[in-house]
Amino acid sequence: MPLVTWSDQWKIGNTLIDNQHKRLVSLMNELNDAMVAGKGNDALEKILRALVTYTQTHFADEEKLMVRLNYKDYPRHLAIHREFTTTIKGFHEKYRSGNSHLTVQLLVTLKDWLVNHIKNEDQKIG
Ligand SMILES: [Fe+2]
Repeated sequence: MPLVTWSDQWKIGNTLIDNQHKRLVSLMNELNDAMVAGKGNDALEKILRALVTYTQTHFADEEKLMVRLNYKDYPRHLAIHREFTTTIKGFHEKYRSGNSHLTVQLLVTLKDWLVNHIKNEDQKIG
């Protein structure tokens, strides 16, 4: 069972961004499935790294869109992206250095952040 089920109600109306949001949801589900299946650290690290990298690519594209649309709340939204990037990168670093292990609870926290961000913040852009 997927951790997150994409809803078309979350679309912001920009095809690139909507597809990237769908991909992020898929990566979250992939990571969850790998954890639930008891996959090894190498497999989990690979998916987590993809999630971190993809989040950065996605934020950069979303920020370009906000600039192009002259989005009034851009500075605040940018700060939220920066904060989340720091959080997820820090977590990835800790995981890589063996100081932490992935928990379902942490994944649920990341998922909640992402879904709430798409629904409450990204929707305002489109
Ligand atoms: Fe955003």
